[in-house]
Amino acid sequence: MPNNTTGRETPEIRPASGKLGVLLPGMGAVTTTFIAGVEAIKLGLAKPIGSLTQMATIRLGKRTDNNTPRIKDFLPLAELNDLVFGGWDIFDDDCYQAATHAGVLEAGMLQQLKKPLEAIKPMPAVFDPEYVKRINGPNQKPPASKMEHAEMLMEDIRRFKEENGCSRLVMVWCGSTEVFHLPAPVHATIETFEEGLRNNDPEISPSQIYAYAALRMGVPYANGAPHLTTDAPALTEMARQNGVPICGKDFKTGQTFMKTLIAPGLKSRMLGVAGWFSSNILGNRDGEVLDDPGSFKSKEESKLSALEQILQPELYPDLYSNMYHKVRIHYYPPRGDAKEGWDNIDIFGWMGYPMQIKIDFLCRDSILAAPLVLDLALFMDLAQRAGMKGVQEWLSFFFKAPMTAPGLYPEHDIFIQLMKLKNTLRWMKGESLITHLGLEYYD
Ligand SMILES: NC(=O)c1ccc[n+]([C@@H]2O[C@H](COP(=O)([O-])OP(=O)(O)OC[C@H]3O[C@@H](n4cnc5c(N)ncnc54)[C@H](O)[C@@H]3O)[C@@H](O)[C@H]2O)c1
Repeated sequence: MPNNTTGRETPEIRPASGKLGVLLPGMGAVTTTFIAGVEAIKLGLAKPIGSLTQMATIRLGKRTDNNTPRIKDFLPLAELNDLVFGGWDIFDDDCYQAATHAGVLEAGMLQQLKKPLEAIKPMPAVFDPEYVKRINGPNQKPPASKMEHAEMLMEDIRRFKEENGCSRLVMVWCGSTEVFHLPAPVHATIETFEEGLRNNDPEISPSQIYAYAALRMGVPYANGAPHLTTDAPALTEMARQNGVPICGKDFKTGQTFMKTLIAPGLKSRMLGVAGWFSSNILGNRDGEVLDDPGSFKSKEESKLSALEQILQPELYPDLYSNMYHKVRIHYYPPRGDAKEGWDNIDIFGWMGYPMQIKIDFLCRDSILAAPLVLDLALFMDLAQRAGMKGVQEWLSFFFKAPMTAPGLYPEHDIFIQLMKLKNTLRWMKGESLITHLGLEYYD
């Protein structure tokens, strides 16, 4: 039936029956904090704080209808008890050892989760030291062509699905950030990409081999890191052809999350920004990888773009065209995962008078990222069951550098992103979209 606000057909959503396998390339701080959190929630040791799918509500109909179910009661999402986890890493630590090494969660909590965590052992990774430079580890697939590696990953996926009795799978990249690359000719079409896999084209990264394997197997793929993976015509086309949802990139946590909260507010009041200086210290493995200039460049690009897109200097030259924006990340081991991010924002108001805002965010990166992994896994599975394929722009809410259709600028304002996400959910269930016009209350 067509939606009464948009006229667009309401999709049919297949039920979430059976188990959902969540496949995670990279079993470091984010992955282990995510899995440990889900296990803790299942045991009643924690609440799903930070997760939209588990905690948020959605208003349906008029404000006077008082109808605001929880998202998870409104839509047929997979239940936490039906999730099964698997992954790959270059280190062979099981999930309990990896979580201990990551140092995010307290030892006492991890001890209570030891049994389920210990059972998750990473499969050997597809790795290339040209793409992630500061680390290396023993748990890798034997040398072979990139196409053979893709086939080995597909075999891993097949085996995981069968051994765990999963009815569906999703993949969320939580591996290290790869060095910055722009799309190359090999990424142009499915044919050139497959030829490149067979010829070991150096422009094809390990994350693209995982994504290719996922898309070939019909598994939705979300990119939690800032590097180029599915933002390549070959892979977006493959996602469309195979009916698979994709989204990315770079989980919106920490400093960029703050930027996307504050910048839309300043712009909404037509306040100018002369400069925005952001600096971070962090000491986890992610920080170590980002200490490499190539990986930092991927991160910098993704962090810089959000602010420029929100403030739209081309529309408001008096307010934002001379803004000086700088982002720095410093690897500082004593901090581990407990990062600190400082922002100095030089703003100006009426008659050009200057003011300053200082932010000191003592954040925990993986604590902010873990619920996003959960939400993305559940929403990507939902999207696939609703027949949605290709780029899922409605999931921009979760990303620093959202993927969009070619030529379309991404929407970075987190409140617009949230409205887009909730309206998409309303549309999926045949509900009226909420426009916030509200004149009917005064008729
Ligand atoms: N924590 C956050 O708030 C946040 C926010 C945005 C993006 N991210 C991104 O998420 C990713 C994970 O972050 P993290 O803090 O867990 O990092 P981490 O370093 O703790 O974990 C990454 C893991 O990936 C593994 N790895 C690297 N290359 C691999 C490959 N080819 N195959 C399989 N495993 C591989 C590493 O061995 C490591 O264990 C990073 O790319 C990071 O930039 C994190």
